[in-house]
Amino acid sequence: MSWKSTLQTSATILSLVIVINELRRAYARISQLETTLTPLPPRSRGIESRIGNTPLIEIKSLSAKTGCKIYAKLELLNPAGSSKDRVALAIIKAAEIQGLLVPHRGDVIYEGTSGSTGISFAVLASALGYTAHICLPDDTSPEKLQLLEALGAEVEKVKPASIVDPNQYVNAAKRGAEEINQTSNSGKRALFANQFENDFNWRTHYTTTGPELLKQLDNIDIFINGSGTGGTISGVGRALKEFNKSTKIILADPQGSGLANRINYGVLYDTVEKEGTRRRHQVDTLVEGIGLNRLTWNFEQGEKYIDEAIKVPDDQALKMAKYLCINDGLFWGSSAAINCVAAVKAALKYGPGLNIVVVACDSGDRHLSKFWKHAAQVTRTITLEEVLADS
Ligand SMILES: Cc1ncc(COP(=O)(O)O)c(C=O)c1O
Ligand SMILES: *[C@@H]1O[C@H](CO)[C@@H](O)[C@H](O)[C@H]1NC(C)=O
Ligand SMILES: *[C@@H]1O[C@H](CO)[C@@H](O)[C@H](O)[C@H]1NC(C)=O
Ligand SMILES: *[C@@H]1O[C@H](CO)[C@@H](O)[C@H](O)[C@H]1NC(C)=O
Repeated sequence: MSWKSTLQTSATILSLVIVINELRRAYARISQLETTLTPLPPRSRGIESRIGNTPLIEIKSLSAKTGCKIYAKLELLNPAGSSKDRVALAIIKAAEIQGLLVPHRGDVIYEGTSGSTGISFAVLASALGYTAHICLPDDTSPEKLQLLEALGAEVEKVKPASIVDPNQYVNAAKRGAEEINQTSNSGKRALFANQFENDFNWRTHYTTTGPELLKQLDNIDIFINGSGTGGTISGVGRALKEFNKSTKIILADPQGSGLANRINYGVLYDTVEKEGTRRRHQVDTLVEGIGLNRLTWNFEQGEKYIDEAIKVPDDQALKMAKYLCINDGLFWGSSAAINCVAAVKAALKYGPGLNIVVVACDSGDRHLSKFWKHAAQVTRTITLEEVLADS
């Protein structure tokens, strides 16, 4: 063998070694990727053991554009898909302790709800030995209705009506529960869960959601959420304010709701009502789950902790929903979109340099045929400036 071919062979071997080494390093990086997925939660028993302790993530696109850090509490990762799991579990457990519900006796949990709470009750009723009976407005999105039926809940659709109407969905639920209590001689009982007025609603956010946030983020300058029953904003608002009274609590309110006016001017009033254009719906918006034209016990419990309200038109919420989907891969429901619009407005008003937390209440899947039917039409290239522009 000539010295030349020896040199060639050595060079070949050397390059092979280098290539193999590079491959090994790439492989090591890939395996490391695998080990840096979400930490494995401990083994536990029953779906009810997986409620709460939801992640907090930074919404990168909104942070980058506003100079604040905007975080979302992923309540949609609760097992039945929304923060209402916490409320349903708290109400059931409290009723069990008071002897109002006994598992596997045929007891029925009645609730009047536009959706999320019903889905949480449907899941937890099955998990804990009950039947859920859900009264809801008949214009609730079809996927929520389908889901409730699939989950095995008894579904009772009623015409949208004002709370003073005996056939309004909350009143229908109460009446149904009372009828079972009075007529059943099989020993089965009914509970009217009553999320709007039930004290355990805000309390569960006060004892779980609020403290979780305080553990997840050192300094919360602004917390933003909408109000349906008011449970979340009251409970979380109180927990955060007690920890640091400088934390601002901001209510994000959809069009047609009177709550923003109540916070900002002391009266429950919306311009839609003033103009006499109010339709038969309680709150005239595509957004589900939030906004109200009456004061509830749960809202009143937290009202004094709310510093201000930001009104968000549907149009901005639709554009924000698409923006988050395209820029961050976040496919969320309408109330989460409203919260994010309010977060950006608050960041531009009070920032930069603040930590802002919003709640991502539920996923876009539950809104595909209503809110997302419109949001899907928004162009992929939408900018944050266009999201905030008046239509
Ligand atoms: C999707 C969704 N977001 C937000 C809310 C409002 O939360 P809260 O009732 O705690 O005010 C609800 C329920 O009312 C809801 O269903
Ligand atoms: C009877 O019905 C009501 C509904 O108004 C319910 O809240 C209550 O807990 C029930 N009582 C019993 C003893 O089950
Ligand atoms: C309370 O919040 C304010 C404003 O966000 C912040 O400047 C301050 O450091 C906080 N105090 C504590 C004890 O966290
Ligand atoms: C946020 O508000 C929504 C309604 O606006 C409610 O369903 C949800 O429970 C709240 N989330 C938290 C964590 O308080």
